[in-house]
Amino acid sequence: MCLTDGCASEGALMGSPDRDAKNSMGLWRRILGRCLTREAADRSCWSYAEGQLTVNLERVPELAGRGSGVRIEGGELPARILLVRGDDGELYAFRNACTHAGRRLDPVPDAGTIQCCSVGKSTFDYRGTRLKGSGKADVTAYPVAASGQLAVIALEPVRPAASG
Ligand code: FES
Repeated sequence: MCLTDGCASEGALMGSPDRDAKNSMGLWRRILGRCLTREAADRSCWSYAEGQLTVNLERVPELAGRGSGVRIEGGELPARILLVRGDDGELYAFRNACTHAGRRLDPVPDAGTIQCCSVGKSTFDYRGTRLKGSGKADVTAYPVAASGQLAVIALEPVRPAASG
C-alpha cells in the first residue's frame, strides 16, 4: 500500500467506494483517507500552460471505461485534478479535494457521482453539487472540451465552490 501519496495502490484495495466500505479493509482505507483512483500511469499524458490542462487521452487507458477516473497532479498544476469518464461516457474534471477536509475523491461507477475517500463520504454529482456527507460546500468542477484524442480543461471553475 502506498503510504505517501494518499491513495490505495494495492490491487486488493481496489473496488468501488460503496462496495469497499462494506469490508474492514475498506473502513481502514477510509480512516486513513486512501483514495481508490490512481494517478495516470503515463505522467507524460498531460501538460499545463496558461491556465489550461491538456490531456492526451490516447495515453490514458485508465479512462476507457464508464465510471472510471484518473488523478492528475504535481508539477506546475495549481490544484490536484480528478478526471472522470462518467457513466454517460462524457469527461468531467474536478478539483480533487473534498470540501470537508480536503481528502481526495473517487468516481462511483453506476451512480453518476464522485465521493470522498474518507469516512464522511461526501458525495457530489458531476456538476460538483454536494449531495450528502460532511462536505461543507460544492466541489469545484472545471469545463472539459474534448476534441479527438485531446481533452482541454480550463482550470477556471464552472462556478466557484460556495464558501461555508
Ligand atoms: S474529508 Fe471528505 S468527508 Fe471528510
